[in-house]
Amino acid sequence: MPNDVFGSLDPRGPVAAEMADVWWFMFGLGLVVFILFAVLLVSGLFRDKGSDRGMGSSSHRWIVGGGVVLPVVVVTVVFGVTLAAMRILPVGGSGDAVVVDVIGHQWWWEVHYPDHDVTTANEIHMPVGRPVELRLSSADVIHSFWVPSLGGKLDLLPDRVNTMEFSADEPGEYRGVCAEFCGTQHAKMGFLAVAESPAEFEAWLATQSQQAAEPVGEVAARGREVFSEVGCADCHTIEGTDAVGTTGPDLTHLATRETLAAATLPNTPEHLADWVGDPQEIKEGVNMPDLPIGEEDMAALLAYLEGLE
Ligand code: CUA
Repeated sequence: MPNDVFGSLDPRGPVAAEMADVWWFMFGLGLVVFILFAVLLVSGLFRDKGSDRGMGSSSHRWIVGGGVVLPVVVVTVVFGVTLAAMRILPVGGSGDAVVVDVIGHQWWWEVHYPDHDVTTANEIHMPVGRPVELRLSSADVIHSFWVPSLGGKLDLLPDRVNTMEFSADEPGEYRGVCAEFCGTQHAKMGFLAVAESPAEFEAWLATQSQQAAEPVGEVAARGREVFSEVGCADCHTIEGTDAVGTTGPDLTHLATRETLAAATLPNTPEHLADWVGDPQEIKEGVNMPDLPIGEEDMAALLAYLEGLE
């Protein structure tokens, strides 16, 4: 799980930094207006009540100035600052950007690197300092992609591709979330953006583009059979085997991932056993069913999954 959980006001990339600047500007402006009105309110309380009865011309000036002119000026300035920030934010198509296709599902993230023939889930690796062009779409309902410390939100829609770009200034694991209610387990639709050195990123791509590791030992080999027999293979793909399902996450390199169930659990043997053994307990309503698997077969299945590096 990420040890660095940064919010949108602690930006770790240029896009998020630009947005944080706009936020602080609006906060400062709001503070000034708040103090101005607090001072006027208090001074009004202590005014000599006999001095100004009825609606004199000075009252009209205050109403027009404070009720019309000031709001129009403030809103116009905020609008201008926001437009200026939006103009310099990249929307995709930078020459050296790493292209990543992200497809939202209830409730996980399908991730493809089309230029590298890599498919993974719930984890987006990226080289530090280089832009990532995200092409976002959905397989079912509307989701929203958001890594607060790296950039803004953008919806994932069925039958449409929305693009955005961001980059990270320093290595780290940045937590991402689904930012639009998409069903009962919306809150458990997380992911990680992992920024690493270019060399580490290339090494990761090289690993991910390989076929699945052969099971080591009899138990794990039996696990691969169980994977097909009990129906896991109907929904999940493991490259190099007969498992070619596409409704669930690709598991070819499951053991290299940091989390399980869309950043719901750390990827440890104990949590893997909990998740495979009783997914409905951990994420009620998820498409993954509780499968009746005997104790011995379950141990074999887990041994196989833990070996998918
Ligand atoms: Cu997907 Cu909320």
